[in-house]
Order: sequence, then structure tokens, then C-alpha cells
Amino acid sequence: MNNLIDKINKLKSDRKAVILAHNYQLPEVQDVADFTGDSLELSRAAAKTDADVIVFCGVHFMAETAKILSPNKTVLLPDPHAGCPMADMITAEQLRDFKRLHPGLPVVAYVNTSAEVKAESDICCTSANAVKIVESVQSNIVLFVPDKSLPAYVASKTTKRVIPYCGYCPTHHRILVHDVIRAKREHSDAIVVAHPECTMDVIALADAVESTSGMLRYVKASPAREFIICTERGLLHRLTKENPDKIFYNPSPVNICPNMKKITLEKVLWSLEDMKHEIELPADTIERARAAIEGMIAV
Ligand code: 13P
Ligand code: SF4
Repeated sequence: MNNLIDKINKLKSDRKAVILAHNYQLPEVQDVADFTGDSLELSRAAAKTDADVIVFCGVHFMAETAKILSPNKTVLLPDPHAGCPMADMITAEQLRDFKRLHPGLPVVAYVNTSAEVKAESDICCTSANAVKIVESVQSNIVLFVPDKSLPAYVASKTTKRVIPYCGYCPTHHRILVHDVIRAKREHSDAIVVAHPECTMDVIALADAVESTSGMLRYVKASPAREFIICTERGLLHRLTKENPDKIFYNPSPVNICPNMKKITLEKVLWSLEDMKHEIELPADTIERARAAIEGMIAV
């Protein structure tokens, strides 16, 4: 393993590369990264870096977002098949149909969308800033794509009407309300923290609803010792590492995002060796999608 890490670090400096990793990545991939974060933090990091190459350890839409924000850099996704099923639940054509059904309404696109869908949208959001972004839009009714769970949560926090598309995250929807009730019964002192991609019945049981990095901040600041974490289980790596005195319970036996786990240390090395798999996007898509992402970053 050390040999592999040494080779990655050597090639990283030869190529002037930076490694960005999402909080759901395998522990060893998170540990080799220069920066680990949630979708919003990763977008900001990709916009700011002065490296020549970004190796993105996450899923396809995240690497595309990095390319949109840094079009002159080489952005590599170590496994080209690491996609997001939720992002695939709406195409640009389906979004155009959705807009035709609701003429004149602004579109808020969750960052978990393809570049083409972002290019058809007015503004992006992540789970960390969705309420703020919906509040910032100059309309009392907004369309929200592709997720239906995040906008249900957002609608409970704003007076605006949010019309959702019908997508969902299969990983978060696998965390069942019964799982959380059982975990609460077994650990009665534990605080429940849920990601807003969870279903509303799970969210109703939560003491806090946060993005992945929001959960890290919440746990660090909390005087509590025990937490039931309702999100993809990869987050437990950072939670445990950064809070050795606290205890974390994973409520579900199946809350794994198989796409996030497609990135391995070997693939990170091969990616740097072969400069693969490069994200390429048409210039006009980059330009239109960029406006929606930069609009979000500016709020
Ligand atoms: P955040 O890390 O932005 O909370 O997103 C979760 C997620 O599902 C990313 O695909
Ligand atoms: Fe997509 Fe869900 Fe996996 Fe995130 S956890 S990448 S939303 S499938």
C-alpha cells in the first residue's frame, strides 16, 4: 500500500496535480487526497486550485463540475463508469419538457446533474445551500431537478412553492424509517443526523439535517457523544478520524453508493500514469453550465 501511495505522490508532483475526494470515497482514497469535502466545498476547491491537473475522486457529475469551473485544466476521473444514478434520472431533453409543462418558472438544479442539464438551468445548489439558493431566486414558485427528497425538505423550510422532478438517490432511499427507529431504540442517548437526500419520514426523526461536511461540523460542535448517521456510510471514516472520543452508529446494512466505491488507489495511480479518463465538454455547454454554478457560488 505504501509503495502505491509513494508512487501516487511522486506522480502527483511530476504532473502538478491535485487530488480532490468526496466524503463518501473509500478511506484509503480520502487519505491520499489533498482535499476532502462535500459537493459545495469541492466545487469551490476546483475553482480555486492552481494545479495543472485535477484528479477527481468522486462521481462523473462532480468531475464535470470541476471541468466547468476550470476549463483550461485537465480533469481526470479515475473510473469513467463512476456515475450518479440520481443525476441520470433527468436528461436535458426531459428538463426541456418539464420546463414546457411549467412555462416561465426558474429552474434550480441540484449539482447532482449532467453538464447539459446544468446548461438548461438557472442556478445550481448543493445539499449545503439549497434553502439559501431557493430563497435567493426571484420567484415564489421554482422548479427543482432531479431530486424529489431535497426539495421536499427545502419546501418545509421556506414559504416558496418548490415543484420537484421525480428523481431520488437510491443509496439514501435505502435507509428506512424502521432502521432509524431501531437504532434510536438501541442507542437512546444518540443524536440522529440525516442527509436531506433521505426520505421525509427519516428526516422527521432527525435532530439535524445537514450536507456531509455540515454533519462533520455539527458533530464537532455538539456536546453529545453518540450519533446515528443517516447518509452513505463512507462519511463514518472522517467522522471517526476527526472525533476519536465520539461514537457513530450506522443505521442501515445497505447504505453504500457503489459508484463512489469504484475509485480505488490503483485507479488513482493509473489515472495519473496514463492521464485518464479526461473529462471533455463542448465549449458552449461549459459556458452555459458555468453561469448556473457560478450563480450558486456567488450566493
Ligand atoms: P454532499 O456531500 O454535498 O452532502 O452530497 C451528497 C451526495 O450524495 C453527493 O453525491
Ligand atoms: Fe448519487 Fe446518491 Fe451516490 Fe450521491 S450517494 S453519488 S446522490 S447515488
